[in-house]
Amino acid sequence: MSPATDSERVLVLAPRGRDAFVAKSILREAAVRVEITVDLPELVQEIDRGADAAIITEETIHTADMRELVAWVSAQPPWSDLPFILLTAHGGGLERNPAAVRHTMALGNVTFLERPFHPTTLISVVQTALRGRRRQYECRHLNEQLESLVQERTGELAAANRQLLAQIEERERVESTLRQLQRLEAVGQLTSGVAHDFNNLLTVVLGNIHFIEKRLGAVDADGAMAQRLSYMRTAAERGAKLTDQLLTFSRRQRLDPVALDLTQTIAGMHNLLQSTMGGSIRIETKLASSVWPALVDPTQLELAVLNLAINARDAMEVGGSLSVRTENVRLGPPLNAEEPPAGDYVMVCVADTGAGMPPDVRAKVFEPFFTTKEVGKGSGLGLSQVLGFAKQSGGGVRIETRVGEGTSVCIYLPRAADEAKVLASRTPAIASNEAIRNAVILLVDDDSAVREITGSMLRELGAIVIEAGSGGAALDILDRETRIDAMIIDFAMPGMNGAEVAHRVQSIRPAMPILFVTGFADRAALEGVSETSIIGKPFVDDEFATKVRLALESNASRNVVRLRRRN
Ligand SMILES: Nc1ncnc2c1ncn2[C@@H]1O[C@H](COP(=O)(O)OP(=O)(O)OP(=O)(O)O)[C@@H](O)[C@H]1O
Ligand SMILES: [Mg+2]
Repeated sequence: MSPATDSERVLVLAPRGRDAFVAKSILREAAVRVEITVDLPELVQEIDRGADAAIITEETIHTADMRELVAWVSAQPPWSDLPFILLTAHGGGLERNPAAVRHTMALGNVTFLERPFHPTTLISVVQTALRGRRRQYECRHLNEQLESLVQERTGELAAANRQLLAQIEERERVESTLRQLQRLEAVGQLTSGVAHDFNNLLTVVLGNIHFIEKRLGAVDADGAMAQRLSYMRTAAERGAKLTDQLLTFSRRQRLDPVALDLTQTIAGMHNLLQSTMGGSIRIETKLASSVWPALVDPTQLELAVLNLAINARDAMEVGGSLSVRTENVRLGPPLNAEEPPAGDYVMVCVADTGAGMPPDVRAKVFEPFFTTKEVGKGSGLGLSQVLGFAKQSGGGVRIETRVGEGTSVCIYLPRAADEAKVLASRTPAIASNEAIRNAVILLVDDDSAVREITGSMLRELGAIVIEAGSGGAALDILDRETRIDAMIIDFAMPGMNGAEVAHRVQSIRPAMPILFVTGFADRAALEGVSETSIIGKPFVDDEFATKVRLALESNASRNVVRLRRRN
């Protein structure tokens, strides 16, 4: 239905007599456009093309088949109600025909006009009908406007909704990253505390085993006893290794980063990897020929790569293949907590063709002690250690894994400044411990068992040892004793800690050589202290003697220990 709004159209159906012509001429006088139709089907057809009112005679209702017209009327859209003007016969008669009455009702908007009518009456009735029809068009127009407004607004709302959903998703991601970081941090603090206490215990255990072994050697005791002692030593050393792993995870181990060529480092690990993987797994290396130097602790890096290779081996069947590659990469902002911040990195990736990880395993791999391996096969510290090391080095880790296809774990290590010298190898100094003999050493440690064993080791090396159980006691002794050649200070002590004691000592005796002992340490406070001035608990092999000797040999200028003051 497309009504002509520019020129309104009135249709007339009055097949008998002259009614149609009379009506048309009267209405033409009033400037109303009138079109005459000859029968009901034509009327319906013309209405359908567009009309604003229809004039029908009563006879039509009596004689024609009204169904089509009634159907058209009831099919009108909600805004439309076409006005009909019914020309009745003088004296009526319509009410005596029930079918005609029903049809008239079905036309809806009907006005009756009795013949003969006065021209003015016809004109006024038609104009009223046309005004009503105009209102209907206005209604339709307003309705259309409203609909398009609603549509527009719905579109805007949908866009706002999409944006909101994206924001919610992003926020959930950030929150879960944060939660994960907080959990790791909390576990880290706990583990480092435990590791610290353990290292004290292990220092006592290993130190005493050392003395008992010596005594047994001297009296030439039976072999069974020596065997038992060596079991104890092995167990204690394994404990020390475990605490080491805990410290790596909690990012509180001491790293000794140097500018390193990772391609060379990885190439140098080939034999080690081969023997780790066994004969049934193929090893491919794709090492970029010129990688940037990376700032990293070489020993820790080798450990991390080895950890990844062992995980890969455990995930593969016979015939799998391991690929190790190095590459320079420039990374954008991180997608999750494990990844490094945007920047330049040297990447080391270890990929396998193994079982891959389902999402629930993938979500937990960095948690300490999370393992899917059977008891005795895995402690669940490998990947948490790798992550701890990478993060502490200023980099990060990215894992890609697909069940049944394999896993690739990439470690990102920060690019060293170009002018940094790339280190080839580190050579430990070996010399005699003559310097320790008869040296007077002030030993400060709050833990009496640890102090006792450290003292015994010093005495064994020939030193004269003065012991102090706290920083305050040590300072008192310094006041009294004129000859003290060096100090060995435990770092973590209640009250005055090692750094604070050292500051006080340096203000009284600036040239005093100081060796810090630490189970773990407040890394920020020990930053800037040279590696030769720190020894970790428990003491391994000859390291203790070497560090004490180096401290004693160091001259004053070299020995000034730079310590950050605590805020
Ligand atoms: N390459 C891999 N393919 C499939 N699953 C892996 C891979 N690497 C790690 N995983 C899964 O992650 C878990 C945790 O690994 P992680 O190295 O931290 O501990 P672990 O290997 O179980 O024990 P640990 O390394 O301490 O001996 C593993 O138990 C294993 O389920
Ligand atoms: Mg592992």
